[in-house]
Amino acid sequence: MKVAALVPAAGQGERMARALRLLEGERDRPPLAGKLFLELDGRPILRWTLEGLLASHAVEGAWVAAAPAWEAQVRAEVERWGLRNVRVLAGGATRQASVWRLMEALPGEVEWVVVHDGARPLVDPTLVDRVLAAALRDGAAVCALPVHETVKRVGASGLVEGTVEREGLWTIQTPQAFRRTLLAEAHQAAERAGVVATDDAALVERLGHPVRAVPGSPRNVKITTPEDLDAAGRWLRPGGT
Ligand code: C5P
Repeated sequence: MKVAALVPAAGQGERMARALRLLEGERDRPPLAGKLFLELDGRPILRWTLEGLLASHAVEGAWVAAAPAWEAQVRAEVERWGLRNVRVLAGGATRQASVWRLMEALPGEVEWVVVHDGARPLVDPTLVDRVLAAALRDGAAVCALPVHETVKRVGASGLVEGTVEREGLWTIQTPQAFRRTLLAEAHQAAERAGVVATDDAALVERLGHPVRAVPGSPRNVKITTPEDLDAAGRWLRPGGT
């Protein structure tokens, strides 16, 4: 069994840049494609992410999609961190395009892929191994958490348009694991149909193929805003929540 981690990390970090601009009062800060170099407990976000993935004994290497303008710097940093079996490529215009570029770059012998957002630094080997084990049985699996809060649809005007039945709703995280050939088929079908999704499992679902949901982790936060970075920092404190 050959397993590769695919790490889309080519986002522009626009929400983070906007928030930092508000916080720091800067007007003309560019989009923060370097978001993944922001530090969490003294280590860059992307380094946490890669070390977390590679800590799984199942994962033999990681392929990272970086924003084209940051590709060289990401490659240099990864080398400086002493991480082996990590390759850095230029990502695409969407998350989906970035993942596809990584898929295309994989060597022939890779049979299973674990896709994980560069912006989720607190991934740990337990999560990777759990989702991979489920994918080995079912072909595709995601990490998920049940929704405990009331969910409503709110219009652009700010008015509530309706309440969504919470029963059976889960929020979906990465890592997500797939048989490589299944994910490739799903991406190609989406490309033909002009479909763009925010995660890979959605593309597999479109094929009518089952996707298994396994328990994710509340500490596996996605860093989008400065508050998320604070939240991740709290998880790292002794007894952190
Ligand atoms: O935009 P979103 O928050 O859904 O991004 C999730 C992940 O996908 C992030 O790690 C981001 O860097 C990555 N991404 C990418 N290529 C893009 C856009 C986002 O690899 N064009």
